[in-house]
Amino acid sequence: MIFVTGGAGFIGSNFVLDWLAQSDEPVLNLDKLTYAGNLHNLAGLSGDARHHFVQGDIGDSDLLAALLRDHRPRAILNFAAESHVDRSIHGPEDFIQTNIVGTFRLLEAVRAYWNQLEGKAKTDFRFLHVSTDEVYGSLAKDDPAFAETHRYEPNSPYSASKAASDHLVRAYHHTYGLPVLTTNCSNNYGPYHFPEKLIPLMIVNALAGKPLPVYGDGQQIRDWLYVQDHCSAIRRVLEAGQLGETYNIGGWNEKPNIEIVQTVCALLDALRPRADGNSYREQITYLSDRPGHDRRYAIDAGKIERELGWKPAETFETGIRKTVQWYLNNPAWVEGVQSGAYRDWVQTNYAGRAQ
Ligand code: NAD
Ligand code: DAU
Repeated sequence: MIFVTGGAGFIGSNFVLDWLAQSDEPVLNLDKLTYAGNLHNLAGLSGDARHHFVQGDIGDSDLLAALLRDHRPRAILNFAAESHVDRSIHGPEDFIQTNIVGTFRLLEAVRAYWNQLEGKAKTDFRFLHVSTDEVYGSLAKDDPAFAETHRYEPNSPYSASKAASDHLVRAYHHTYGLPVLTTNCSNNYGPYHFPEKLIPLMIVNALAGKPLPVYGDGQQIRDWLYVQDHCSAIRRVLEAGQLGETYNIGGWNEKPNIEIVQTVCALLDALRPRADGNSYREQITYLSDRPGHDRRYAIDAGKIERELGWKPAETFETGIRKTVQWYLNNPAWVEGVQSGAYRDWVQTNYAGRAQ
């Protein structure tokens, strides 16, 4: 079996669903179920014996040792993290605990487990660490896209904590020979994306008649990848990646934020027009900027394409249409994640920003 951490979050749950749609190899899924973890994402697997869910923390060494001993996975995929940049600005502590200390504890538990494996089980074992392009910092307008050789220049508590975890993973390979793989991916979007992040926030706010909050001038650039393409890239790296290597994953889809928001509005105008006949664009509101806001990310996904033959299946146009349609088709999921804690966060992040 494979052992997935953070498999009730946005990307992790998409990964688990895709994995079990394509393979009968069971999944052990360890997730703390923070505000971002949601078992409703995995409702389609209810009663499926191939999915074994455990609520727990990647920082819990005893739990990790017991799970590894009892389930004897052939690979670990580490998705578990605190993932939202704005939350890391308001409260960095959880990011240090999970992304750095948690990854360290996981590496220690896996090292002890891997050390006692023998023969093919030991040589075939893999630890795949899921990371982000944000570790590379920010690009100027005409800079080349991030290659794997780009220096690490993280700018937020979130990206600094992910950078630290990447360094630990690298060090466990270099020092102990642990068979690791690291992926650094650009911005994902798609089903089950928690509506604190740009694209789902814009969809749910638009439908609720609320302002569409754009930070600063809206000209920051992100490089967008449909989540199932990220999942297929991870499967490919797990299958064929070279030990100790890192692979950048991206969709060659650089877009300024304001263009993303306008695209979401145009799709909603067509698919679910406002009752008054006006465009959702009227709801766009410019707010004061995110502190330390990275101006541009762009991924050079040439290595994974050349060496592993991976390419995204979706264009931005097909992926964003599917995404908007998914949110329109799943109002119960949206309502379910908008708990009291969610409303508190919206108040914390947006109430103090100047228009
Ligand atoms: P998410 O916030 O939606 O999900 C994170 C999951 O991890 C949640 O289910 C949460 O409950 C769980 N978790 C948090 N702390 C934990 C802990 N201590 N122990 C066990 N589980 C814990 O995040 P996501 O967007 O799905 O991101 C998944 C991974 O991919 C992260 O490592 C993130 O850095 C990386 N990544 C995300 C993106 C993106 O655009 N979302 C892009 C590149 C890389
Ligand atoms: O690049 C990969 C990263 O992408 C991942 O590592 C992170 O886990 C993931 O959250 C994402 O980080 P971003 O900060 O790029 O994503 P977010 O959706 O928060 O913001 C995208 C852009 O939109 C960013 O420039 C900030 C802007 N934004 C965001 C929000 C929430 C707004 O203008 N208004 C908003 O309300």
